[in-house]
Amino acid sequence: MMMYHESVLLHESIDLLGITPGGIYVDATFGGGGHSRLILEKMGGKGRLFAFDQDEDANRNTEQQEFSANPGFTFVPSNFRYLKRQLRAEGIRVGTVNGILADLGVSSHQLDTAERGFSYRFEAELDMRMSRLEGETAADLLNTRSSEELQRIFSEFGELRNSKTLAQAVIQEREKKRFRTTGDFLELCSKNLMGERMRYFSQAFQALRMEVNDELGALEDFMKDALEMLAPGGRLAIITFHSLEDRMVKHFMKTGNVEGEPDQDFYGNITKPWDLITRKPVEASAEETKQNTRSRSAKLRAASKN
Ligand SMILES: C[S@@+](CC[C@H](N)C(=O)[O-])C[C@H]1O[C@@H](n2cnc3c(N)ncnc32)[C@H](O)[C@@H]1O
Repeated sequence: MMMYHESVLLHESIDLLGITPGGIYVDATFGGGGHSRLILEKMGGKGRLFAFDQDEDANRNTEQQEFSANPGFTFVPSNFRYLKRQLRAEGIRVGTVNGILADLGVSSHQLDTAERGFSYRFEAELDMRMSRLEGETAADLLNTRSSEELQRIFSEFGELRNSKTLAQAVIQEREKKRFRTTGDFLELCSKNLMGERMRYFSQAFQALRMEVNDELGALEDFMKDALEMLAPGGRLAIITFHSLEDRMVKHFMKTGNVEGEPDQDFYGNITKPWDLITRKPVEASAEETKQNTRSRSAKLRAASKN
């Protein structure tokens, strides 16, 4: 059977959570369950682990791997942006969680399943939704967004240097034929590419994916909820794969907001919601990057709640 996902920064991230048996933990991005498995191991059969994933395939994966048979384990089939609402529905009180982990982005399973439309390597419907139960697909987005919006998406999320040209090309193309498949978009990218071919494709596809799944909006909501749900001394560890995400996490762990603006309390004192555990992000070792190319862009930050 194809491996669902190879976990990135596995031991480094779980060590930073400082797990103690009997605690309440959250894996916000279950995926292939690699991080969850190690968390459960460290919990030594005591306490609770809530694993979130908005992808129905990840849910099926828990059953295949018999996670569900573990009485301390609960799978929450939801977007992690609803962390607080979902945990409260499970009977978990605000300010009582001991550790929360998020390993952002998509899994290898999602990228390698052709019909999900995440990858330019396969011809398929251009979908890219992590949860196929709702929302616009990447094709919808190309067929409906304005030139300015498309330019912003390609520039901010894809960091494409010719984002305006590509956005205008999308508008012209869709007047002739609606976008439907990965191939439709790939062909347009090929005609407009700038710089290295594969890099251009992956950045253009990544830009669409981040918009389709509102990845930055979800991250911001999640971090706000995490701050509320954690107990004093509780830890948050986040692995990012995009510079914008890393900047948001860095700011949030410094100030409690993603803009990085120092907040003040009623008396004008600067508030410090977190103590940093990692001053600089932890990156994958040379050995890990050799074995797993995806780990090359990973950055792990952790903080404990004051
Ligand atoms: C990189 S994989 C996680 C891999 C996992 N840590 C492991 O070791 O197998 C990211 C997973 O998070 C899920 N995900 C991404 N954003 C999410 C969100 N906003 N809410 C819930 N799940 C999300 C994806 O569906 C994917 O399965």
